[in-house]
Amino acid sequence: MIRMFAFLRPYRRAIGLVLGLIFLQSLSELYLPTLMADIVNHGIVTGNDGHIWRVGGLMLLVSAAGGLFSVAASYHSSKVSAGFGRIVRGRMFEHVEGFSLQEFDKFGTASLITRTTNDITQVQQVLLMMMRMMVSAPMMCIGGIIMAVSKDPMLSLVIVCAIPVLVLTIVSIGRKASPLFRSLQAKTDKLNLVLREHLTGVRVIRAFNRAGHEKKRFDLASLDYTETAVKVNKILAFMMPLMMLIMNLTSIAIIWFGGLRISAGHMQVGDLMAFLQYAMQIMFSMLMLSMMFVMIPRASASAARINEVLDTKPEIVDRPSVKAAARGGRIVFDRVTFRYPGAEQPALSDISFEAGPGETTAIIGGTGSGKSTLVSLIPRFYDVESGRVTIDGIDVREMTQESLRAKIGFVPQKAALFSGTIRDNIRFGKEDATDGEIRRAAEIAQAAAFIDEKPDGYDSVISQGGDNLSGGQKQRLSIARALVRKPEIYVFDDSFSALDFKTDANLRAALRQETRNATVIIVAQRVSTIRDADRIIVLDEGKIAGIGTHHELLETSDVYREIVSSQLTEEEIA
Ligand SMILES: Nc1ncnc2c1ncn2[C@@H]1O[C@H](COP(=O)(O)OP(=O)(O)O)[C@@H](O)[C@H]1O
Ligand SMILES: [Mg+2]
Repeated sequence: MIRMFAFLRPYRRAIGLVLGLIFLQSLSELYLPTLMADIVNHGIVTGNDGHIWRVGGLMLLVSAAGGLFSVAASYHSSKVSAGFGRIVRGRMFEHVEGFSLQEFDKFGTASLITRTTNDITQVQQVLLMMMRMMVSAPMMCIGGIIMAVSKDPMLSLVIVCAIPVLVLTIVSIGRKASPLFRSLQAKTDKLNLVLREHLTGVRVIRAFNRAGHEKKRFDLASLDYTETAVKVNKILAFMMPLMMLIMNLTSIAIIWFGGLRISAGHMQVGDLMAFLQYAMQIMFSMLMLSMMFVMIPRASASAARINEVLDTKPEIVDRPSVKAAARGGRIVFDRVTFRYPGAEQPALSDISFEAGPGETTAIIGGTGSGKSTLVSLIPRFYDVESGRVTIDGIDVREMTQESLRAKIGFVPQKAALFSGTIRDNIRFGKEDATDGEIRRAAEIAQAAAFIDEKPDGYDSVISQGGDNLSGGQKQRLSIARALVRKPEIYVFDDSFSALDFKTDANLRAALRQETRNATVIIVAQRVSTIRDADRIIVLDEGKIAGIGTHHELLETSDVYREIVSSQLTEEEIA
């Protein structure tokens, strides 16, 4: 956690100010009991009204000043801790943006969200407490002891006896509570995960009547969290009365022995009253310190989780080298083998093929055969295990990710749209696209018709994830988004699956015109979508089962013939 405090650098002066203010506030608190002893000893006991007024006024001033210091300190420390949260959150967001999909797979979305929100809040809260306690607790404790001893060294023996009891109690409770606090954080993660899946998958859950099952899953995670939280709070609830008991017993002892000393003439009444207050201040400050020690393990667990993210170096980084070549777009896969992190079997093995500008290369194969994996290697979402992927002769690992991806119009299998208007979503492909370019892209993607039917046209609002559009509409918008870029390379990952045959045919005709000079990679399930391709790659369990044109493959590839005969009638095949 200490490491995280490096983020506090911009607030050095504000923190200095807070510590100074708290120092002054603690001083005023330490001064008050002495003043009170003075009133009692020299005012009340001797009946000196003037003295009471004078010292009483001073007490008012001192406590008013203490109050002001305290308010100012709270104000500035809140500002510092909120600013700290903002800085760390910003750093995290930036860092996570640099992650490749590999790192996203590793942490999981739910955990990344908890870490950027809840975990940072934990650290922020402890920071706030530390700023307040770090100065005031030791000061009140040590100052209290000095003042108490100066009032009556003999009576201080009572405090000397009480402190070890207090410390022992605090330590033993802290030992019990810290690991629980730590596991609480992991359980928050789990709860978040279940809730997130439930909210994003609500349609599927309803459709499959799994609401009951999901509820059980949520209840389980929730119960697990609750049990731990209750356990922690039980311990803490036990701690408070125990502390109060120790403190009250100490008071009784002080009054008892103090009374004896007063009757023996060794002590004055006012001093006893002041002594009692100092004893309370000492013990209270120790209580505060102990609270801090309970909170710190939880926050440092959070800090470790934050640091884990910040320390994760993306596997995919730019080498300070070549920019991508000028326009071209020849893709070469050279004996590529790829394995997802932690997977036993490679998802792709020994893939070799070439795809050039002006050509359409189609990839076909059963689900799970590795089609999406193959195309995700082109924009370097993942790095190959062996072999290489080159574009115009340059290994994709040698280009900057930005210049590489600027060449590619990628239409993912799962159309991901963003909340905003239709126009915003298409413009996502090219920031400075004009309205004319956007309209043209929509027309080619066969999206113009349904956009024009909407009352707000291109300004129609799309909800999060595009949930207010049909699957086919989403696909067409994400195709338009890729088209507006006018890239050298187009990748369509199963992007026509949700379209009816007529729209599919129209779209492909329009695309053929638009992508005449580009390199086109089409992943498809339907043979009709790809039978005119210049080259068809048949994938089977991550291996190439055949490469060639439709007619060549009908001759040479059993797998292809099987796929074809399951979809087309005899005369269509011929
Ligand atoms: N992010 C991932 N992490 C681990 N394994 C994955 C991941 N994505 C896909 N796979 C696995 O890789 C194989 C190929 O998947 P994929 O390329 O999506 O197939 P296709 O697109 O042909 O249906 C499957 O066995 C799948 O389980
Ligand atoms: Mg796929």
